[in-house]
Amino acid sequence: MENQGTRDQWGSRIGFILAAAGSAVGLGNIWKFPYLAGENGGAAFVLLYLACIVILGLPIMIAEIVIGRHTEKDPVGAFRLIGGGRWTIVGYMGVLTGFFIMTYYSVVGGWTLGYIVKSATGAIGSVSGTAMSESIFNAFIQDPHQMILYHFLFMAATVFIVYRGISNGIEKWTKVLMPMLFIILLILIVRSVTLPGAEKGLSFYLYPDFSKINTKVVIEALGQCFFSLSLGMGAMITYGSFLSRREKILSSAIQIVTLDTLAAILAGMAIFPALFAVGMTPEKGPGLTFNVLPVVFSKMPYGSVFATLFFLLLFIAALTSSISLVQVVVTYATDEWKWSHRKAVLTAGTLIFLLGIPAALSFGAMKDVKIFLGNTYFDFMDKLTTIYMLPIGGMLIAICLGWKYGLEKTMHELDPDTKSASLEKIWALTIKFIAPLLLASIVGYFGIYRMIR
Ligand code: PHE
Repeated sequence: MENQGTRDQWGSRIGFILAAAGSAVGLGNIWKFPYLAGENGGAAFVLLYLACIVILGLPIMIAEIVIGRHTEKDPVGAFRLIGGGRWTIVGYMGVLTGFFIMTYYSVVGGWTLGYIVKSATGAIGSVSGTAMSESIFNAFIQDPHQMILYHFLFMAATVFIVYRGISNGIEKWTKVLMPMLFIILLILIVRSVTLPGAEKGLSFYLYPDFSKINTKVVIEALGQCFFSLSLGMGAMITYGSFLSRREKILSSAIQIVTLDTLAAILAGMAIFPALFAVGMTPEKGPGLTFNVLPVVFSKMPYGSVFATLFFLLLFIAALTSSISLVQVVVTYATDEWKWSHRKAVLTAGTLIFLLGIPAALSFGAMKDVKIFLGNTYFDFMDKLTTIYMLPIGGMLIAICLGWKYGLEKTMHELDPDTKSASLEKIWALTIKFIAPLLLASIVGYFGIYRMIR
């Protein structure tokens, strides 16, 4: 993507939807969503998550795409245009959030690479049970050499694709590979729910126990909603800025959100029945997916083949997300600082790699280094971005568009031949009132609760 002359645009509407869905569907769905659900009471969390998606996720998704296409700018340029003055900080915060997320995202992306190798060499398809699967994972994440090597390789792959440019890189990949990921998830679900003892997992995942809901569950569901949909830091603003004027934003956003939600729900369906069937506990934290799925693969015919394919697809899903995170940083540097594309990509890639090293070591050499409230570097970056930066970013996006700039000037962006006037009214109401109020109260209440607890 060169910066001179006209801006690059998506080749087609489906290209934009796939790229945006590619950004949304990633480790957030398959790695993070299941372990957060496991730690936060299962179905109660899932229900809250779905509520967040409908009430806040979809409207903010629409708002970000609207801002992007309306301004045709990177997040900083966009906020300078629609807000001006201090509002530009919202854009800077987005770029910074993208940076921070990448430092640990790339580490987990590296795990998927390591698991491709382990699967292809037969180590995953032949695990004898839970204990073996857990010891493989623990040995892996404690090994500093492998962690840094795979973090480097993941970053290098991301840099390579972003370097090649937005319309000839991202679109092509996603078109073929996303459907494959869904198919293999379905195959996994069939195996998982037919294991003896799977019912307990299904009921944990599907029948909510409302006594499990507390402040922490609410904020984690909210943060996960933003993380999973790639909202609150300008990724969708950036992608929207390459969207052609002819396209309908409303229906595109609905499709992206639906795909993303489906991927998360399916991932949970593949994991929880198997988890209970093999007698693991759901509060496993970040290792959950990598601990449970090998056991499922080992109980399938051609387990190694399926495992290799699965981790390959997960790697690519992670890649299409990391591309969007890095793209925000790169578009900022090329649009605002007039850096060459090459310089921007290489600098961002190198910096993220270096800042990610402590995250890569957070489970081994640096696991006792606590930097804030007892968190490792990895956990700190994760919580800071997911629980605070993304929801606060989302709130400021809504306030800036709804109050500072004014929705009237952007309503025509939603759908050129307005057939859904009532939907548009609900959207406007949400962006002006519901989203700012809800987000301010949840994040504010949680902040206070954490401090006095
Ligand atoms: N949505 C991505 C995922 O689920 C992560 C992401 C967050 C990407 C924020 C871009 C911006 O894996």
